Amino acid sequence: MNIVMIGAGYVGLTTGACLAHLGHSVTCVESDPRRLGPLRAGDIPIYEPGLADVVQACRLSGRLQFADPDTPALGTADVVMLAVGTPSGADGDIDLAQIHEAARQIAPRLRPGAVIAIKSTVVAGTARSVAALVARARGAGDVAVVSNPEFLREGSALADFLTADRIVVGADDPAAAGVMAALYAPLTEQGVPYVRTGTIDAELIKYAANACLALRIGFVNELADLCEAAGGDIARVTEGIGLDSRIGPRFLQAGPGFGGSCFPKDTRAFAATGRRLGARQTVIEALIAANEARKTALAGRILQALDARQNGTERRPRRVAVLGMAFKAGTDDVRDAAALSVVPALTAAGVTVTGHDPKARDQAAALLPGVGWADDPYDAAAGADAVVILTEWEEYRRLDLGRLAQRMSGKLLFDFRNLLCPDAAARAGLDCIGIGRAAPP
Ligand code: UGA
Repeated sequence: MNIVMIGAGYVGLTTGACLAHLGHSVTCVESDPRRLGPLRAGDIPIYEPGLADVVQACRLSGRLQFADPDTPALGTADVVMLAVGTPSGADGDIDLAQIHEAARQIAPRLRPGAVIAIKSTVVAGTARSVAALVARARGAGDVAVVSNPEFLREGSALADFLTADRIVVGADDPAAAGVMAALYAPLTEQGVPYVRTGTIDAELIKYAANACLALRIGFVNELADLCEAAGGDIARVTEGIGLDSRIGPRFLQAGPGFGGSCFPKDTRAFAATGRRLGARQTVIEALIAANEARKTALAGRILQALDARQNGTERRPRRVAVLGMAFKAGTDDVRDAAALSVVPALTAAGVTVTGHDPKARDQAAALLPGVGWADDPYDAAAGADAVVILTEWEEYRRLDLGRLAQRMSGKLLFDFRNLLCPDAAARAGLDCIGIGRAAPP
C-alpha cells in the first residue's frame, strides 16, 4: 500500500520506518528543511535503538522516502497518517493547531477513498471534527478520518511496533476500517491482536492506557514513601504484589516520578477533557499533582542531607554530580525529565552541579545553563559532596563504587532508580540513599 506520513518526528519516523519494513511504500513528509536535508541523506535526528538500521535498509530498497509537503505521493496515497505535534495548551488541554493545519493542507490533494489516520495523541472527538473539516475543504465526504493511536515506548519502539500487544483502529466508516485492516495485515497475520472500535473509543483508549500506566507509577512511588516511613523495602513489596496475576510485575519500578513527552502531557489532557466534558477525573488530577510534588521533593531531600553534613556554621560551596538527564534509559529525550526539576532547584540553592548522560547531554545542556558537564560518571563525581542518579542507564548500574568514592569529597550517593546494592555502596564507604527502603544511619 502507499502510505504518506505527515511529520517525521519521533512517532512519524519510527512508524513510517516500521510500515516500510512491513513492505509498504512510505513517504515521510517533513516541512522543516533543516530536518529534511539530513533525513534524505540517511541521517536520523533522534536516538532510538535499531531505528537507523531499519531506516537505512528501507531507504536502500526504495520503500522509504522523505519529501517536503509538496510531494505528489499525496495524490496516490491509500492512507495518510498524521503524526504532527499536539503540544499542551494553557489549561492542560492539547493544542490541535498542527493537526488542523495538516488536514487542511492535504484535504484537496487526496484521491477519493483515501483514508486519513490520526497517529498523534488527540482528545476524544478530534477524528470527527477533522473529518468535518476535510469534508468542507473537499466539498465531499469521500475521505474518511480514523483514529490509530500508537503505543510505542521510546527506547523499545521498534519491538513495540513489530510485536505489539495490540493494534487499535477507531473507524466510524466501514470502508476505511477495511483499508486499515489491510494496512496492518502483515502484523495481524502473525497474531498481533487487532481492536476495531469507533473513533471516540480509540481516542479514549490511548489516553486511558497512558493514564492507567502513569497511575501505577504514581501509586508505587507513594508506596515507596510509605515503605521508607514504615521501615519496609519497596522491591520486596512490589515483588509480592506483582505476582498476583491480576496486578502483574511490570511498571512497578519506583523512581523519581514519571516524565517524558507522553505521561505528563497526556494525563494533563485527560484531566482537561474530563473537566471540559463535566466528567472530572479526580484520581488523575491527584496523580498529576503528586508526580510534580515528588520531583520537587527530591531536590529538597538532597539539600537537606547536604545541610545535615555541613560542619557547624562553616558554609563551604557544595558540589553535586547528577547522573542521568534523559527521562528514562535508552533515549536522548529530556522532556519532563526529573533532571529538569532537580538540577535547577540545586543550582538555585547555590549548589555547583556537574552533569553526565551517555546520550542526552546536548539536549540537557541547552536547557540547564550553569551546569558543568563531564564525559564519564567518575569525572562528574570529582570533588562532589554527593552523587545523584536520576536515569536507569545500564552503565550506572555497573558503576565501580570504589572508584566513584575515591573521586568524591563527600560520601552521599542518592540512587533514585534503585540500581545499586546498598551493601556494595557501604563497602565502598558510601551512604547510599535509595527509594523506598530504609536510609543508612
Ligand atoms: C509511554 C507508554 O509506555 C507508551 O505505551 C506510549 O505509547 C507512549 O508513552 C506514548 O504515549 O507515546 P514512554 O513515554 O516512551 O512511553 O516511556 P515509558 O517507558 O512508559 O516511561 C514513562 C515514564 O515512567 C519514565 O519517566 C519512566 O522512567 C517512568 N517509569 C516507567 C517508572 O518510573 N517506573 C516504571 O516502572 C516504568
